[in-house]
Amino acid sequence: MSKGFPRNFLWGGATAANQVEGAYLSGGKGLSTADVMTTGVHGVPREVTNGVIEGTYYPSHNAIDHYHRFQEDIALFAEMGFKCYRLSINWSRIFPNGDEELPNEEGLKFYDEVFDTCQQYGIEPLVTISHFETPLGLLKYGSWENRKVVDFYVRYCQTLFNRYKGKVKYWLTFNEINVMSTKPWMAGAIKSNDEQVRMTAAYHQFLASAKAVHLAHEMDPDNQVGMMYAGHVAYPNSPDPEDMQTVNDFMHKMLFYCDVQCRGYYPAYKLKEFERKGIVLPIQDGDLEELLEGKVDFLSFSYYATHVVGKETNLNFEGLNGVKTGYKNPHLPTTEWGWTIDPMGLRYALNLLYDRYQIPLMIVENGLGAVDKVEDGSIHDPYRIEYLREHISEIKKAIEIDGVPVMGYTMWGPIDLIAASTGEMKKRYGFIYVDIDDEGKGTFKRIKKDSFYWYKKVIETNGENLE
Ligand code: BG6
Repeated sequence: MSKGFPRNFLWGGATAANQVEGAYLSGGKGLSTADVMTTGVHGVPREVTNGVIEGTYYPSHNAIDHYHRFQEDIALFAEMGFKCYRLSINWSRIFPNGDEELPNEEGLKFYDEVFDTCQQYGIEPLVTISHFETPLGLLKYGSWENRKVVDFYVRYCQTLFNRYKGKVKYWLTFNEINVMSTKPWMAGAIKSNDEQVRMTAAYHQFLASAKAVHLAHEMDPDNQVGMMYAGHVAYPNSPDPEDMQTVNDFMHKMLFYCDVQCRGYYPAYKLKEFERKGIVLPIQDGDLEELLEGKVDFLSFSYYATHVVGKETNLNFEGLNGVKTGYKNPHLPTTEWGWTIDPMGLRYALNLLYDRYQIPLMIVENGLGAVDKVEDGSIHDPYRIEYLREHISEIKKAIEIDGVPVMGYTMWGPIDLIAASTGEMKKRYGFIYVDIDDEGKGTFKRIKKDSFYWYKKVIETNGENLE
């Protein structure tokens, strides 16, 4: 029996362009959905403004200035021994308004340099093509509600596959695609609460993803394209069968995104639900074949927390990704932001997803958002080490005991970055501290935390030494 993590396991970290790059108008970049989101610090929720309002602070505008410091940052990742760096390409750097005929050369050049730097250190890039950063220029079409956006996305993909052939072989079509059900602005510039609108937008994203998978394979047989699921998992509030039924309903709501992308068709339970609700999918000739042909090669997911659901759900407890369940789990501690800490749930999630789809899995986000203190220039973060150690141990069990094929683990976010849900900086995930505050003020200096040295050892020993 083989033990431990596979030899070619992709250890690394994950970021998203809008949360690290900054330089929001440099090099010909256009505005994206992230660039009009304010910060939610001091108890004020994150707002979406109508364009950029002068005098308002938008965290994505400078973020952690990775755009100008990516060489230093990637060198630090390399020092930890990263085998893989998951990053996203900011669509509006390549097509500033999303609908141009020709791409923006300066934007393409920037990512050439990023990938060349990765290559220099033997780091495999894993690229998210769209991570909560839709060009604002697509709003005039109604964004993903309009089928035209499928073509714009495919043109964007074609540009990337062509330009980065030989440099990038792992791709993810949409970050946390199921967020279309909970936070549609982030998922694809959709403001409406109307389910018909969201399901139309999701349909177009499925189609766009399927076309992208097809194209990627055609343009380079080495390409491997994955889907990315916001890894929601739910437990019943009690052994009451009615509570268990709510788990089933909850999981269907989330997993149908994986069903479509991994199996290539809509599951019966979803079609029945659409029928009951009068939701109509804008299916055209050839689409269903396209979905079937565009099944993904692997399933990647983020894993932060689990939920509890039950028949008495009163929807007053808002958890991860804006999911409202009504219950807290009395068996689990939570982070300072109220997300449950549930390492065993990760093994459960890996089993659930593999049992259902039988394709390779990858954990492309997992981490602890916490407030760090700088003491005499150092950051001691045993809480982060403990969180990651426990989660990685459970992945190991899933591989060794359950036989789940896990391709890799890219922890979120290896360097402190802007929080997506709140826009805060003080919710820090990194092995590397970045000296800026919630208003974006500071020196931007990078400092290695204790966890930096711990993760280096984990990678060096291929996950054998987690102490
Ligand atoms: C995931 C997103 O939902 O969770 C990331 O893909 C995000 O973009 C991460 O940063 C953690 O959430 P937050 O709100 O703590 O940044």
